[in-house]
Amino acid sequence: MNLPPHVKLVEVGPRDGLQNEKQPVPAAIKIELVHRLQASGLKEIEVTSFVSPKWVPQMADNAEVMAGIVRWPGVRYSVLTPNLQGFEAALKSKPDEIVVFGAASQAFSRKNINCSIAESMERFAPVVQAALDAGIFVRGAMSCAVGCPYEGEVAPERVGYLAGLMKGIGVQHIGVADTIGVGTPIKVQRALEATLKHFSLDQVSGHFHDTYGQALANTLAALQIGVWQFDTSVAGLGGCPFAKGATGNVATEDVLFMLEGMGIETGVDLDKLIDAGKFISDFLQRKPNSRAATALLNKRAG
Ligand code: HMG
Ligand code: MG
Repeated sequence: MNLPPHVKLVEVGPRDGLQNEKQPVPAAIKIELVHRLQASGLKEIEVTSFVSPKWVPQMADNAEVMAGIVRWPGVRYSVLTPNLQGFEAALKSKPDEIVVFGAASQAFSRKNINCSIAESMERFAPVVQAALDAGIFVRGAMSCAVGCPYEGEVAPERVGYLAGLMKGIGVQHIGVADTIGVGTPIKVQRALEATLKHFSLDQVSGHFHDTYGQALANTLAALQIGVWQFDTSVAGLGGCPFAKGATGNVATEDVLFMLEGMGIETGVDLDKLIDAGKFISDFLQRKPNSRAATALLNKRAG
């Protein structure tokens, strides 16, 4: 097996993780979470999104959170921007990277960002151009790359088609997202391979929600074809308000435990990461949704 020697973990807990929380999470807690995540050695953190506060009230404090973070050199702070209005607001917060997010299924595109796939490209194109002009790195995300809550199974060709559109408007890196966690290893490899027809291995990452308990297996399947960048969420937080029933991203702690056990280097300290996960889980008054965190916290207590 030819596995990558190094993996980059992109921590999406503050954004994907918290966007789905019903109870308001104060900006100060979000800022403290980002501080603890960067202290664990994570080098890329998806902080917030500049979307409509009517659609996602939890992200309404985007500018306040971005302004409150004490930035560390070498850490990249990213934000979601669905349109020019969001990008212009985000620009004031000086993100290192922006994310335009589309969907491989028409129905999800409409539910999530209120437009068709073709219309989303018309909205993203000027955002991508403006970001590139401002020297900001542009990532794209492709939702429903395996299955859609409204349309069912999504064929790899549709993922490839969207990846081609994203490439065409200048997106520099693309995430293949299993939004509702229905992917299994071979299906996920097919979605990634369809994407790899348009982007190089260094430009592709996996974003796997763990609704059906497949995300760790899917991560390994992605590693086996050379993918070495993954979005993960501390304490397994997360979900999309427009994908009912979908639970959080694969827990960063679980992925890190697996990678450490395989001798794959990430630069992240598991103990400090577990502390960050415990911090936000305590605030939310629940246990971390991570098997590795639970086991290691039990071990500490014992
Ligand atoms: P729209 O209604 O089509 O937008 O929404 P519009 O341009 O027609 O404007 C309507 C109103 O929204 C106006 O306000 C605008 O000012 C406002 P009003 O005049 O009614 O008071 N507006 C905005 N306000 C703040 N920031 C903006 C913005 N744009 C318009 N950027 C829009 C389109 C995309 C804004 C909306 O559909 C939206 O906000 N959707 C939320 C999408 C979202 O955050 N989804 C979750 C994140 S994606 C995800 O989780 C998936 C991912 O993790 C990968 C995976 O797992 O699949 C990335
Ligand atoms: Mg997601």
